Amino acid sequence: MSERDIERRWWKEAVVYQIYPRSFNDSDGDGIGDIPGIVEKVEYLDDLGVDVVWLCPVYDSPNADNGYDIRDYRAIMDEFGTMADWETLLDELHARDIKLIMDLVVNHTSDEHEWFVRSRVEEEGYEDFYWWREGRDADEVSWSAKEGPEGEAPPNAWKSFFGGPAWAYDDGREEWYLHLFDVKQPDLNWENPRVRDEVFDMMEWWFDKGIDGFRMDVINLVSKPDGLPNDPEDPFGGAMSQSTNGPRIHEFLSEMSERVLDDEYLTVGEMLGPEMPMAHARRYLDPDEDGLSMLFHFEHMLLDRGDAIWERGEWALSDLKAVFNRWDEGLEEVGWNSLYLNNHDQPRMVSRFGNDGEYRRESAKLLGTLLHTLRGTPYIYQGEELGMTNYPFDSLDEFRDVDTLNPLRNAIADGDVESFDAVKEVVRANSRDNARTPVQWSSDPNAGFTDGEPWIPVNPNYEEVNIESERRDDDSVWHYYRDLISLRSEYDVVVYGEYDPLFPDDDTVWVYTRTLTGEESDEQLLVALNFSDDEVAVGLSEVVTSDHATLLIGNYGDGGDGDAGADAEGELAAGDLHLRPWEARVYHHER
Ligand code: GLC
Repeated sequence: MSERDIERRWWKEAVVYQIYPRSFNDSDGDGIGDIPGIVEKVEYLDDLGVDVVWLCPVYDSPNADNGYDIRDYRAIMDEFGTMADWETLLDELHARDIKLIMDLVVNHTSDEHEWFVRSRVEEEGYEDFYWWREGRDADEVSWSAKEGPEGEAPPNAWKSFFGGPAWAYDDGREEWYLHLFDVKQPDLNWENPRVRDEVFDMMEWWFDKGIDGFRMDVINLVSKPDGLPNDPEDPFGGAMSQSTNGPRIHEFLSEMSERVLDDEYLTVGEMLGPEMPMAHARRYLDPDEDGLSMLFHFEHMLLDRGDAIWERGEWALSDLKAVFNRWDEGLEEVGWNSLYLNNHDQPRMVSRFGNDGEYRRESAKLLGTLLHTLRGTPYIYQGEELGMTNYPFDSLDEFRDVDTLNPLRNAIADGDVESFDAVKEVVRANSRDNARTPVQWSSDPNAGFTDGEPWIPVNPNYEEVNIESERRDDDSVWHYYRDLISLRSEYDVVVYGEYDPLFPDDDTVWVYTRTLTGEESDEQLLVALNFSDDEVAVGLSEVVTSDHATLLIGNYGDGGDGDAGADAEGELAAGDLHLRPWEARVYHHER
């Protein structure tokens, strides 16, 4: 790619930091993180060097799904503070040139939202705000719901992603409503133009308050096909295969783009589903179509997963590379990638893709190196910058998440799973709660997160793994992250360089170059990552074309080990590059 072809955008050059407010920092001792708690840490975020904060939902909510069930889009949840607190947060971030993007949750609302309350009683104008349907005769189907009237089955065979049927019966209206997620999260009916008007007005309201964009929750689910067909191939009976990238999805999103979005906003759409056809992805991101800045796909997050939370899939490094390679190539001409390995819905990346024991520090840094040197915008999930690990869950009482508890309890009740103990190892590795334990600020009680009783247990490793001690230690994951973040603003090639993978089938090392060629510069990065507990040699003679590449960053805190293909100053020579366990090196050279 030449410099002339580069479309420069601020959000390509940015690093995003995701905050899950409930677990970030508690300012008032109720055990729940809050907005004033975030304000206290704005200085911290500035020091780390991030450019954007993505704030998970802080809206008024009864918390069936920790704020992803919204009761009032224009109010702040009491536990989190007030609108004035939120305004202070925005001002404090903006004063330090940090942008703020909010979470937009509009596939569904809470069942306590006034639209649903009105729809439930068929108030004029609200009848079709949600998906209401008549039940089927229970004799016609092979399975029946436990709820609902005698002899009646839900309208179709769709299953909720959180377990059980995707339909709930309403006694008053005597009909069923669709909920792809929890029973307290009814799906909005985007076919109804009034629903879209309401959503777009609400977005406009937040833009008027000064926000810089939205992360759009499961936005590729908002168009459902006529007749809501079943699909026996889909583990969710059709709920997943039929709702993802539905028939009118691009029409709805391009309407949104035309009516409320602006080129300057950062918009990132969360796109549920197994493998997304690249043609869809490009339409979501094409400025002449839906015009989103980026999307979150799930392909790398599904590699090690089975159909249920107590199942697991086998994966190899080459599979992980194949996903990233496919997406880099797929969005080469149109679009831009987001780069993430964990978030509030996923286990901690160092426990999942690294080694959270002996090589916690090295592997956390290596994964960070990957995310910050691939082509795309890196997203840091709170606590990732210190290498936080999964929680050693030992009993069901320690979990809080509906997506862990509901399916598991149903499966135990139905006899599909014998007991929690029988599936403990897998569930503890997969649960979303791994990401939701409090941020470990210090070695004070409760990791300095709260003076009260935390809503979810603190990881017992906080005395060793915490921000305060990592800030004192120059060789920590935290300092390394800070360096990675700053590379982006120093080297254009980190942001815009073309990505070329090497040895794609290798299951131990991930090696690639990033190249930027133009009138003013001709530079290249060589990134070499060892994803194993063993030392490995990488044959570089065919790759290295320069004898004066220098080590830009490496996770062993030195310039190389003498005979490792790099000399004491970190210069790279053609030959074999020896990488120590979980070693990451990034070389740079002007060509
Ligand atoms: C998204 C959110 C997740 C939530 C779900 C339903 O996947 O990230 O936390 O449970 O949507 O809103």
